Order: sequence, then C-alpha cells, then structure tokens
Amino acid sequence: MSRPSEQRIYAAYIASRQSAALAAAVRIGLFDVLAEAPCDVPALAGRLAVARRPLAGLVRALTAMGLLTRGVHGLVLAPDAATYLVRGRPLWMGGLIDLEVEGMVTPQRVIDALRSDRASVYAGEDPWEVHARDPERARAFTAAMHSISAVAADGFAACVDAAGVGSVLDVGGGSGALSIALARAYPSLRCTVWELPSVCPLAEGYIAAAGLGGRVSALPGDFLRDPWPRGHGAILLSQILHDYPVARAPALLAAAYAALAPRGVLWIHEKLVADDGTGPLLNALVDIDMMVWTDGQQYAPSVLERVLEHAGFTGARIVPAHGTWSVAIAARAPR
Ligand SMILES: C[S@@+](CC[C@H](N)C(=O)[O-])C[C@H]1O[C@@H](n2cnc3c(N)ncnc32)[C@H](O)[C@@H]1O
Repeated sequence: MSRPSEQRIYAAYIASRQSAALAAAVRIGLFDVLAEAPCDVPALAGRLAVARRPLAGLVRALTAMGLLTRGVHGLVLAPDAATYLVRGRPLWMGGLIDLEVEGMVTPQRVIDALRSDRASVYAGEDPWEVHARDPERARAFTAAMHSISAVAADGFAACVDAAGVGSVLDVGGGSGALSIALARAYPSLRCTVWELPSVCPLAEGYIAAAGLGGRVSALPGDFLRDPWPRGHGAILLSQILHDYPVARAPALLAAAYAALAPRGVLWIHEKLVADDGTGPLLNALVDIDMMVWTDGQQYAPSVLERVLEHAGFTGARIVPAHGTWSVAIAARAPR
C-alpha cells in the first residue's frame, strides 16, 4: 500500500536550522567578510575567529540554501546575499535577521502564547515600555523594522497616490523607511514620523542618512494616549494594526478618521492573510511572530474592510504591493 511522503513534514521540521544558520552568519559577519573578497573556509575561519570544522558545516548549509557559491578564488556571495546581507548596504536585512539571535521564535514561546494568550518575548511586559527604558532593545527593534520596511518601501510608494496630499502622518513610523520612500517619490511631499520619544532620535538618524531632514521629521508622541496631530492629507498605518487584537482597531481607526483632513486618505500597509485561511505561507507564518512578540495577528481583507467601514471610511480597496505586502486605501469622505 502506498503511503504519503514524509518529506514535507521533515522539511518543515528542519527549516528552523535555515533561520539559525542565517542569523548566526549575519551575527558573526560572514557575509561582510566575503563581500570584501572571496576566500576559502580556512581563511574565512581565521578572519571570523571561529573554528574550522563547524564553519565548514555552516558554509555547506548556506551554500545549499543558495546564498553562497563556490568560485575559482573561494566562496562568493550569491546576488541576493550581496544585496541584502552585507552590513552597510542600503537594503541590508541584517537588522531583522540579527534579532533572531536573542528573540528566536521557539516552540516553547509558541506554546506559552497558546496557553497564556500573551506574547512571551518581553515576558508579559509591554514591548514599547521595555524599549522606552532599554535603548539597545529600541535600537535593535527599530533596525529590524527598518530591514523589513526598507525593502518594501518603494513598492508601497508606487501603490499610493500622494500627489496633492501635501503632508503625511506616519503613525508609529519606526525608522521612517516608508516616509523616506514617499518623500523620494514625491519631491514636494512632507512626512511626519509620529513615534514614541525613545524612537524619535533613531528615526532622525535614518532620515538624516537619507538626506531628507528638510522634508521628513520625527514628532514625539503616543498614539494611544495623545491627541492625534490633525489636518494631514494622508495617514499611514504600516504594521500598526497587526500589533493589537482586532478589538483595538476601531479606536485606532476612529482616531485616524478624526485627525485626517476632510478629504484625506488612509493607507494601511500590512501583510494580509487570505479570508479562507489558506495562506499565503509567508504571511501566515508572520502570525506566529505576532503571537510571541505582541498580542496581535495578521489581518484578512474582509476584516480590514469591515473595521474601515465601521470607522466611517469609504471606498476601501486593497491593492497588492511589494512581495506579499498589501495596501488598503480608504477615503475619509466620498470622492
Ligand atoms: C511594528 S513597528 C512598525 C514600524 C513602521 N510603521 C514600519 O512599518 O516600519 C510598530 C511601531 O510603532 C511604534 N509604537 C508602538 N506604540 C506606539 C505608541 N503608543 N505611540 C507611538 N508609536 C508607537 C513602535 O515604536 C514601533 O516603531
């Protein structure tokens, strides 16, 4: 009698090793060293001050993952590794990947979340309060968000029409990655990254590095407690709603509605999951992150449309953006 293959299950089981290999390689600077010049394992072990035998295993895994190739002068970075994994390059994703070393999603963390209905990475504390008193965790988290958002930012800016909105309020804008892309795409646009006081200096650093200090600014505030700055032509919520249970969305969207200029527009940038619960896999897996990092979840289109309509927004439509991202676009008043 034929039996189903066990390969899909084994592949899922072993997949966490890919994550661990990638994060370890980022942390020890393996991609940074190979970006300078190709070299073989013994020379690489010397440069990284690590042991040769385990490094050979790590290199084999990274090669099998397609991130390294073997050239005539030694190990060479694959094009995507050279673009996204070398520290200091504009689309470096290491900020995100490096967070795995201390904040790895483990089976125990998932079990704890399932049993307690609380996120566990911050041991039950509010992540943002932890960031407020621990600048290093705020820096690492903001770098991670920047890594996720910088690669998606041009795709986001291409999906929305910011001509004529005048100014954008980027609520909980993190590093300002999306505001930076919008300001680059629309030369007369002004953007305000409204962030917790602990994050504003970090955002200012990213904005200054992009050379956009004149048009993108950081404004300290708390979107749960302070009145929302009024009169902006557009409000952006990128990965904000997904940080909270859906029951918190109406209050956030009501605040956005009240703060927007009369003919203003709301943009919600999220990785959505299908209404029928089938995926897509990359977004469904983010739900596992959300249960251990915050008390949130990924949104399905119908849920997003329902909460937008309930808050009074009209004409909501969801458009695909970069990769598996989407943007929900809704107007404050009928157009
Ligand atoms: C998941 S991150 C998203 C960052 C950014 N929007 C992006 O997509 O790259 C959530 C952000 O919201 C900020 N945040 C959380 N609570 C906040 C609050 N009450 N007021 C202002 N910002 C807040 C955090 O500091 C963090 O940068």
